Order: sequence, then C-alpha cells, then structure tokens
Amino acid sequence: MIFITFEGPEGSGKTTQIDKLQKYLNKTGFTTIKTREPGGSPIAEKIRELLLDPANKEMAAATELLLYLASRAQHVRDKILPALKKGKVVLCDRFNDSTLAYQGYARGFSKEIIEKFNNFAAGGLKPDLTIYLDLDVKLGLKRAHKRAGKKDRLELEKKAFHEKVRKGYLAIAKKEPGRIKIIDGLASREEITDKIAVFVDRKLKNAGKNSRTC
Ligand SMILES: Nc1ncnc2c1ncn2[C@@H]1O[C@H](COP(=O)(O)OP(=O)(O)OP(=O)(O)O)[C@@H](O)[C@H]1O
Ligand SMILES: [Mg+2]
Repeated sequence: MIFITFEGPEGSGKTTQIDKLQKYLNKTGFTTIKTREPGGSPIAEKIRELLLDPANKEMAAATELLLYLASRAQHVRDKILPALKKGKVVLCDRFNDSTLAYQGYARGFSKEIIEKFNNFAAGGLKPDLTIYLDLDVKLGLKRAHKRAGKKDRLELEKKAFHEKVRKGYLAIAKKEPGRIKIIDGLASREEITDKIAVFVDRKLKNAGKNSRTC
C-alpha cells in the first residue's frame, strides 16, 4: 500500500522511531511490516553479515556498493513488493538514500551512477515517504555505542566520513522536499513520533484517495 523509509546517520533514532510508528499504525488499524537494509530477507541478511562484519576491513568500496545493491535487489523482490501488493504499510530502516549518502557523498562514487544503480536494484521502486532523522554525528555515534557494545564496520569509520554522510543526506533531502521530511533527532522520542505521525497520516489519507499500483 505505502512504502515509508527511515534514514539518518548512525544512532539518529531510526529503529526507535520505526518501532513506535508501527505500534501507532497497528493501533489505528493498518497492517504493517517492519524491515531493514541491508538485509530484510534471508539471502539479503547473509549479505548484511558480510557488509557489517568488522573483520572485513579489506572490503573494496566498489564491492561494498555492489553488495548493498545486491541486498536491496533481493529484499525488494522477496519482501517489500509482496507486502505492498497485499496492501500493507511497509516500514523500512534505510533504503536508496543510504546508498546515495554513504557510497555517493561519503565514499565518493558518482551520484548519477548510484541513482541509476539504485533504480536498477529496486526495480524502479521508490519510497512514498522518507523520514530523515537529522542528528549531530558525534552525538549519534555516542548513542549508538551506548546501545550496542560492538561497533560494526561502518560505525568504525572516522568522524569525517560520518560528517560527509550527514551533509549528503541534507543535500538529498533539499532536492526532494516532497518525499523527504527532515526531523530534528535532538527532540524527545515522543515529540519525534508525534511529528512523524503527522506526515504519515497525511500520506495515508492521500493514498486512500489514489490507490498505489504496483
Ligand atoms: N530522541 C531520542 N533521544 C535520546 N535518545 C534516543 C532518542 N531516540 C533514540 N535514542 C537512543 O539512542 C540510541 C540509538 O537509537 P536507535 O538505535 O533508534 O538509532 P538508529 O538510527 O537506529 O541507529 P543505527 O544507525 O546504529 O541503526 C538508542 O539507545 C535509543 O534508545
Ligand atoms: Mg538502527
């Protein structure tokens, strides 16, 4: 039915807010599924392990990009499209914009090429709504490390890398203000959930009027 993605730097509150939004939507009577990238379906989760394993320090940036895309190609076909076809609201933790921010803006691959690759991997599927949680990089990393002891391969990147990711996200959001809603990740969990609910309610109302065809 509708496809909502959550984006933001490490520790910005994506997983926390997806959980809260799912509870809210289920209470309002929508059928939802929660999923994530990389991963989200059995084969894609195997690719996730490769991508995030801190032991894979030698992974080339091109390999990394292609593995993210491979994970997405599988995940979209295994899980996201079937759920949308059944009329579910799909909530996805990271999607195309992560690839553009991390592999494009931060690693330096051509943004035009990434946009084409993203489109290919996702079979043309684009989110109906994207919530971008913006947060100071240092604070986000601190939050993420407090939550989980072991850092994954991407979290181990230098602060300068994460700054580029954040700048990238802000540039992407500026280009697509209709789809991407920027929310300040410094606010309380509850305030953020309330703000997200306003955007989602609006989107669901419109979706009711023009049913998605996919
Ligand atoms: N608004 C908030 N204020 C303070 N702490 C928060 C807020 N939202 C989330 N947190 C806490 O910050 C930590 C990181 O949150 P969360 O795991 O939701 O972020 P994330 O964006 O999913 O991180 P990652 O990029 O590592 O997956 C958690 O311990 C969470 O409880
Ligand atoms: Mg998370």
